Amino acid sequence: MTGETRVLLVVAGGIAAYKALELIRRLREQSIRVRCILTRSGAEFVTPLSLSALTEDKVYGELFSLTDEAEMGHIQLSRDADLMVVAPATADLIAKMAQGHADDLASTTLLATDKEILIAPAMNVRMWDHPATQANIATLQERGVALVGPNEGDMACGEFGYGRMAEPHEIVAAVLSALGREPRSTAGGGPLAGRSALITSGPTHEAIDPVRYIANRSSGKQGHAIARALSGLGAKTTLVTGPTQLQDPSGMDVIHIESAQQMLAACENALPADIAVCAAAVADWRVASQSNRKIKKTGSDGIDSGVPKLELTPNPDILASLSQRGNDRPGLVVGFAAETEDVIRQATQKRARKACDWIVANDVSPESGTFGGADNTVHVIDAQGVDSWARMDKSDVAQRLAERIADHFNGGLTAPAPAPL
Ligand code: C5P
Repeated sequence: MTGETRVLLVVAGGIAAYKALELIRRLREQSIRVRCILTRSGAEFVTPLSLSALTEDKVYGELFSLTDEAEMGHIQLSRDADLMVVAPATADLIAKMAQGHADDLASTTLLATDKEILIAPAMNVRMWDHPATQANIATLQERGVALVGPNEGDMACGEFGYGRMAEPHEIVAAVLSALGREPRSTAGGGPLAGRSALITSGPTHEAIDPVRYIANRSSGKQGHAIARALSGLGAKTTLVTGPTQLQDPSGMDVIHIESAQQMLAACENALPADIAVCAAAVADWRVASQSNRKIKKTGSDGIDSGVPKLELTPNPDILASLSQRGNDRPGLVVGFAAETEDVIRQATQKRARKACDWIVANDVSPESGTFGGADNTVHVIDAQGVDSWARMDKSDVAQRLAERIADHFNGGLTAPAPAPL
């Protein structure tokens, strides 16, 4: 393993271990060599043979293997790598790392390494939420261990919440960022290499006074996932986001704004861009005149001031404004249409009204569970017609949309991302 970027991947025991196989393929697409340590419980989920076939290297397992120690000791294993990645990182291995245990090859190598470590936790939501795990994570982060995920979603155990391992393309983006490698656009790889993308995400907050605001329930998950997917295909990506609970994705410019006016200014500032995807839930209105001081319930005389009347004024429409720009209009402008009924017809009209190229229509009726949930059912509407996709995870929607965008620019020649294993 010389002359190339090298990752030492620890695969621990969890159902998400199967994603390690796709992760290896994607890392190798980035010209990263991967060597694997498979824990004893990891070997219950994936075989050394499949890891070895994908890495084209020996897979390391037992601490006290005399042949391994003779050929490649546990110290040398980590010294030989540029970065250690643990995916999936189980609650148990995270606890061992936090405590400094060294009772198998994985934990020993993690303790002995002088390299940066990136972990992709994967566990049941209650295990993730448990104060013990949270304390261990905080300890590791204090020590400089980088974290990718976990994501929120349905889990193999049938529960829902945080604990699902980050998707392979998200881990690859975090690996590239930890290695300080340029995104593929400038490094020369990926079907969107050399293209730039601007994505809006999340809600906007429209201040009423310094303490109160008008907001909406957008989580930002879909927009953030699209930014990650476009970046993963090599686009130089700028994410303009309203306030969310999400971590900033790595490997891109992330601009935090609060109001619609700030979002528009940040978007205009990010032009020119080849691609604009407006996934933000921009507040339609803001108060006509914001108060600089907290609006009081009582006057200085202590007498009830009555209920204030809020006069609203329309916010700028960022999607329409980007779509209707002159010379610096992005080559492809994609909007979203969240509808509760007659989804396709309403969205088709919206596409025309806003003058964008594509509209991604989704059903957000309360029974759909789309708002704040992990899945999305979408129809992509363009000048040619309607392309309806099966219900899928928001990050899969993002990946498929990013690939459709790449196809648009490459005349349908984009190789599909590796099929999920
Ligand atoms: O009009 P409506 O809010 O349904 O349109 C949704 C689409 O328009 C989304 O793509 C959203 O990001 C975008 N939008 C915007 N600025 C607004 C309102 C909506 O960019 N002020």
